[in-house]
Amino acid sequence: PLSAMEQEHEMRQKLGNLHGIPLFKSFIEGWPLVKAFQARPDDLLISTYPKSGTTWLSEIMDMIYHDGDVEKCRRDAIYNRVPFLELTAPMELSGVELLEKTPSPRLVKTHLPVQLLPTSFWEKDCKIIYMARNPKDVVISYYYFHQMAKIHPDPGTKAEFLENFMAGKVPYGSWYDHVRGWWEKKQEKNLLYLFYEDMKKDPRREVQKILQFLGKELAEETVERILHHTSFQEMKKNPAANYETMLPTLMDHSLSPFLRKGISGDWKNHFTVAQNERFDQHYQEHMAGSDLHFQME
Ligand code: A3P
Repeated sequence: PLSAMEQEHEMRQKLGNLHGIPLFKSFIEGWPLVKAFQARPDDLLISTYPKSGTTWLSEIMDMIYHDGDVEKCRRDAIYNRVPFLELTAPMELSGVELLEKTPSPRLVKTHLPVQLLPTSFWEKDCKIIYMARNPKDVVISYYYFHQMAKIHPDPGTKAEFLENFMAGKVPYGSWYDHVRGWWEKKQEKNLLYLFYEDMKKDPRREVQKILQFLGKELAEETVERILHHTSFQEMKKNPAANYETMLPTLMDHSLSPFLRKGISGDWKNHFTVAQNERFDQHYQEHMAGSDLHFQME
């Protein structure tokens, strides 16, 4: 049998390159099936750059789809209730396989940049909700996620990881390209573009936005129950939402829990003054000319 360190070495993947985007080699192997994925017209796509509140939005959407029925939303782990489109891992059901077994209406999760989304989603005119989060909190969250989720390459030091993130040398590539690409798509396609920071500040307003987008109405008390069930504290102790049912070889919550802090502005506890100045400069350069703005706290 392999030692723990050997196992970890086996698990951590070097990144390959999918049409210019750094991505896990196993996902690239599975790409032909993802690219050919057949969306259904009533699929709803949840799209994010990693660590932007995907799981939070997923839980909210599943609750909305089940009219706030908490028990129904405990039927399975979040990664099975909202399958991850491009996931391909050895010995596991791929995202596409899981989706094929999922009854409609399906919720689908992806982190793909807009230009790589399987064309079927556009052809079938599926509803899409994108959620973005400020990059300083994303990079810190991503750093801790690299430590606990063993599919990722070793992140190195925080300073090293910050450099890689800024250079787009992390899974799914440049955060700037991702948020800007999906933002620009909003010009031609009626997709709902949300922000993690808004959801933190006023979740009720954001849930109302989602309901309006879906053309769905829910009783006030149902919205109340959804907000309670999807709060950070509730999700953190919910085994169906907190990823603790994942194999320990894939995720080690003792290194960093999946629901880690759940706040805006945690980057302040991690960035040095110099790193922050450099990041701000880099941010200005890469967001120049865009009307997309982020709240950093
Ligand atoms: P932190 O690491 O900053 O705590 P994703 O689901 O896209 O991987 O994003 C994970 C991030 O969302 C983590 O951020 C996690 O704690 C946060 N998160 C998950 N559920 C949340 C909730 N109900 N409220 C606020 N943040 C939440």
